[in-house]
Amino acid sequence: MGKRERDWIPDETDHDWIESLAQPLPPALAAIEAAARPERIPIVDRDAGRVLAVLAGGRKRIVEVGTAYGYSTLWMAYGQGPGGTIVTIDPDRSRTDLARGWWRQGGIADERITVVTAPALDAFAADDPRLAGPFDLAFIDAMKPEYERYVEALRPRLAPGALLVADNVLWSGRVSGSRPADPDDANTNALRQFDRAVLTDPGFLATILPVGDGLLVATLRA
Ligand SMILES: C[S@@+](CC[C@H](N)C(=O)[O-])C[C@H]1O[C@@H](n2cnc3c(N)ncnc32)[C@H](O)[C@@H]1O
Repeated sequence: MGKRERDWIPDETDHDWIESLAQPLPPALAAIEAAARPERIPIVDRDAGRVLAVLAGGRKRIVEVGTAYGYSTLWMAYGQGPGGTIVTIDPDRSRTDLARGWWRQGGIADERITVVTAPALDAFAADDPRLAGPFDLAFIDAMKPEYERYVEALRPRLAPGALLVADNVLWSGRVSGSRPADPDDANTNALRQFDRAVLTDPGFLATILPVGDGLLVATLRA
């Protein structure tokens, strides 16, 4: 295994420098950040949002599992550009109704984003036509113990060359053991198993970007 041979890891100064060069944060994204914080709605880190926008570039059809206030949705919508569409799944309509307001504020036409109001596994099992593939990118950010089953459902819906992306796969260091974890914690154990399953699956080319809370990125091998 190639070990890191440098005695440096990025800190706040590096993050601030990157942010100083990045495109200014669109007001609708700033509004979601401000609304999510006091409500403790878990949204992707801004760094991860910027990565999602880049990954979404040129990808026409995106599916997302876990919408909340639509922060990651909006980053991807900006990244894919005006021709792209997103189907996003979340059973909590009180959150997704608010999300729609921020997407409108951000200039995203209603037709571009479809919300499926249901638990994702139910919607996939019911073969909801809105979830018919092929999708060019799938982003997973909902129930951690269900991640593996989301991938099972999404796999046949991915276009050749599509990207599969999942958030929270390092779970603040508890997955690798860099931070202490309760051995019985269901989320930690499920995420550890999920990472192992995807990264060792010969059908995927996959790695984990240590951005935000850990972003797993994978493509199906041809
Ligand atoms: C971490 S938040 C999503 C954050 C969002 N991706 C972002 O970064 O802006 C997880 C969301 O998953 C939703 N959720 C819970 N159970 C779900 C299920 N079974 N299927 C789909 N979404 C679910 C919750 O309602 C919550 O809003």
